[in-house]
Amino acid sequence: MPKTLTSPQFAATLLRWHAQAGRKGLPWQNLHDPYAIWVSEIMLQQTQVSTVLERYPQLMQRFPTVQALAAAPLDDVLAEWSGLGYYTRARNLHTCAQQIVQDYGGYFPEQLAQLENLAGVGRSTAGAIAAFAFKLRVPILDANVKRVLARLFGIDGNVQSKPVSDQLWQLAQNLLPSAAGDMPRYTQALMDFGATYCTARQPICLNNENSQAKKCPFASQCVAKKTQQVLDLPKKIPKAKSPELTCTMLIIQVQDHVLLQRRATNGIWGGLWSLPESSWQQQTADHLKQSQKIKKNMSAKQLLQMVFNSEQAADLLHELSGKPEQGLPLKHVFTHRVLRIQPWRISLTKVSLPHITDYAWCKIDQLDRLGLPQAIRIIFRNWNLIHGGDKVNESATH
Ligand code: ADE
Repeated sequence: MPKTLTSPQFAATLLRWHAQAGRKGLPWQNLHDPYAIWVSEIMLQQTQVSTVLERYPQLMQRFPTVQALAAAPLDDVLAEWSGLGYYTRARNLHTCAQQIVQDYGGYFPEQLAQLENLAGVGRSTAGAIAAFAFKLRVPILDANVKRVLARLFGIDGNVQSKPVSDQLWQLAQNLLPSAAGDMPRYTQALMDFGATYCTARQPICLNNENSQAKKCPFASQCVAKKTQQVLDLPKKIPKAKSPELTCTMLIIQVQDHVLLQRRATNGIWGGLWSLPESSWQQQTADHLKQSQKIKKNMSAKQLLQMVFNSEQAADLLHELSGKPEQGLPLKHVFTHRVLRIQPWRISLTKVSLPHITDYAWCKIDQLDRLGLPQAIRIIFRNWNLIHGGDKVNESATH
C-alpha cells in the first residue's frame, strides 16, 4: 500500500468507494438542472438529510422553476421554508432567483466567479453547483470536506484560520480528478464520504465492534489514523459561552384570532411573523432568578406595558377579558446565544387594534401555514393552538 496519497489515487479510490458504498437514489443526486441543484445545495447546507428528503420535493413542486420562485411573494417562500431554520437561506433563495431572472435571463451562469456572486452562494456552494451542473473542475470545501482532508493529511492548525483554510482549498484543488466528466460523481462522493464514513464523532475507522463492518478505503494512508488523532482533527476551537437573554412574549387572543407581529427584515428571524414581545434582556444568573420570581405575578397591564407603548397598551387593556395566563417557558438555543422566552396569554373581548404597523390578526387555524420561527411554532403547540407533538420546553434553530 502506498504511504502517501497522490491526486489520481485519491480520486480513483473515492470514486470506487462511492460506487460500492455511496448514498444512492436520493432526490438531489444525478440532477442536471442547475436550478434543482442549487435549491438542493441550499437546503442541504444546514438541514438533516431526513428532513431534506421530505421537504425538497415539496419545495420543488411548489416552485418548479427559477421563474416561479422569483415571482412568488417572499411570504410564500418563507412559509415553504417554515421549520427549516436559518431563514436567511430562504430570503437569499428568493433574492438569488430574482438575480438569475433579471441579470441572467433565467439561466444560471456557468462561471465560478459569477456563481459566487449570487445571494447566499458561498465559495463551496458555488463549487458544488459548478461541478454538478457544469462539470467544472473546481473544488468544494464544506465542514465535512474540511474534516476529511484535515484527518487524511494530518492538518492540525485551526481550520477556521485563513492560512489553514487556504491550505485546505489548495489541497482540495490539487486532489480533483483529471477528467472533468468525473466531477459530479467525485463531488458527491466527497460529500457522502464525509457525511457517512469520516463523520465527526463516530468515524468508521474507530468502529471496531464488528470487523466485518464497513472499512475506510483510506485507512492505510490517513495521517490522523496512523497518529491516533482521528477524533482530535480537525482541531476544535473552544466556543465562548453563549450569552443568555430573556424576553416575554404575548399571545393576545380574541376568540379564534391571535395577534402577530412581523419582524424587521434584518436580524434574527428577519421578515417572519412572530409574537409581540418585550425587549430581549441579557441576564446574569442572579437576574434570572429574580425575574422568574417577579413573573409569577404579572398583571395584564404590566405585561402589555412591557411589549407595547403606553397608548397601545391602554387601548388593549380596555378590551381585557379575564386574567393573563402564564405559559410553559421555552429555552431557545441559537448558534451564538440562548433566549429564554416566557409566554403569557391575554384574552380580549374584541379585535381592536390601535394603528400599529406590522401587526396582523391571524385565524388560529391558519397559523400552521405561516412561516413562523420554530420557537414560536413550539409556543403555539405548547398551548394547543397548533396541533402535533408533545409539549417541550427547549428548542434550537438559527
Ligand atoms: N450537503 C450539501 N450538499 C450535499 C449533497 N449534494 N449531498 C449530500 N450532502 C450535501
